[in-house]
Amino acid sequence: EGDKLWGGRFVGGLDPIMERLNSSIDYDQRLSEVDIQGSMAYAKALEKTGILTKPEVEKILNGLEKISEEWSKGLFVLNPNDEDIHTANERRLKELIGEVAGKLHTGRSRNDQVVTDLRMFMRNFYSVLSAHLLQLIRALVERAAVETDVIFPGYTHMQRAQPIRWSHFLLSHAVALLRDSERLREIKKRINILPLGSGAVAGNPLSIDREFLRKELDFAQISLNSMDAVSERDFVVEFLFFASLVMTHLSKMAEDLILYSTKEFGFVTLSDAYSTGSSLMPQKKNPDSLEIIRSKAGRVFGRCTSILMILKGLPNTYNKDLQEDKEAVFDVLDTLNAVLQVATGVISTLQIHKENMEKALSPDMLATDLAYYLVRKGMPFRQAHMTSGKVVHLAESKAISLSLLTLEDMKSISPLFASDVSQVWDYVNSVEQYTAPGGTAKSSVNAQIEKLREMMEAQ
Ligand code: ARG
Repeated sequence: EGDKLWGGRFVGGLDPIMERLNSSIDYDQRLSEVDIQGSMAYAKALEKTGILTKPEVEKILNGLEKISEEWSKGLFVLNPNDEDIHTANERRLKELIGEVAGKLHTGRSRNDQVVTDLRMFMRNFYSVLSAHLLQLIRALVERAAVETDVIFPGYTHMQRAQPIRWSHFLLSHAVALLRDSERLREIKKRINILPLGSGAVAGNPLSIDREFLRKELDFAQISLNSMDAVSERDFVVEFLFFASLVMTHLSKMAEDLILYSTKEFGFVTLSDAYSTGSSLMPQKKNPDSLEIIRSKAGRVFGRCTSILMILKGLPNTYNKDLQEDKEAVFDVLDTLNAVLQVATGVISTLQIHKENMEKALSPDMLATDLAYYLVRKGMPFRQAHMTSGKVVHLAESKAISLSLLTLEDMKSISPLFASDVSQVWDYVNSVEQYTAPGGTAKSSVNAQIEKLREMMEAQ
């Protein structure tokens, strides 16, 4: 008898390098607990089919209980032959309770077992992940609520565009992340489907009560088709894509803040807790936290792409290629959890420099408002845009700021300019025009904050 679960038809051992390459126990032991829960439910279901007697189930459940304890106390001793978590747990069960352990796997395959485990594992981390995401959104929203009076440049093409409220910037990132939070909720629905009872490919030959299994393991539904159940990993891809989008949003935000933390911008200073120094240049304080966030985005996209590549050419149904899904899920989960917490820390400890932000505003950013001034006096917008452009050109040719042009200068371009044009040169007046929902006026920013708070409650 070979020492492998599947040893019956084999002669001789695996090539040692192949053995290591094939083995997943180093990482899939993270599934130890859910694997045991799945087995417990399956043992109970087997009793209902008559395959196991009551005393046999009890023996199996006690054995599994003991194994669970060993894992949680760090006492589980791996054996060099343990190929994956499923074989390890079953091997240990046999050591503890003897031959009856061999009945547990009746009608079950590691194919339906592993995907059940993975779905349970993913379902369990959902709430932690969701909490971390919401914490970050809350940090952005609460900051926005206290810093509404700070006005700074809004950029397009990285050129000064229009004055905006700092809170408006913070909320722009919060809104994107809130959509991610909604996306995560959607994904959970499709994770929470039970494959157990699908066997290797064809289904379960013992009329196993899958509805009973579903209730035991607290799944929302059972899978519809055994072939799909063991081979499909779209729920993994959805999670990895969700994570990729979160990382895209965080990376964009990181990029903004890295730029704003340069001496050239001087809008923000990162807390020392999220910065590091240079081994050579004593004056340096580098925004490493944000750079790491930006780089982890690349890492997460790679994980997502790798699984898509693995899935695209697979013949139905289970193929060993699918073993690769777990490292992707674990790595992305760990990365995301860490990154979200660091991003929350960065945002909640960030120091902002209001004076520098205000200093960065310049009257040329009000050229659009100058056009609106003319529009309010009846000029068609296209013509107003042209006229305001001429004013910009005149100021440029005199090498002075727009607001320093005399009324005569401006009247020479359009007779519609009057003394009330001086009101245009006010940044608060400027942002306060944008009262339509979604804009940067105080009332609109406050409405966004209210709405976001409501939506966070609903998550
Ligand atoms: N360790 C394997 C995995 O992660 C378990 C399933 C193996 N099934 C099989 N028929 N070889 O996918």
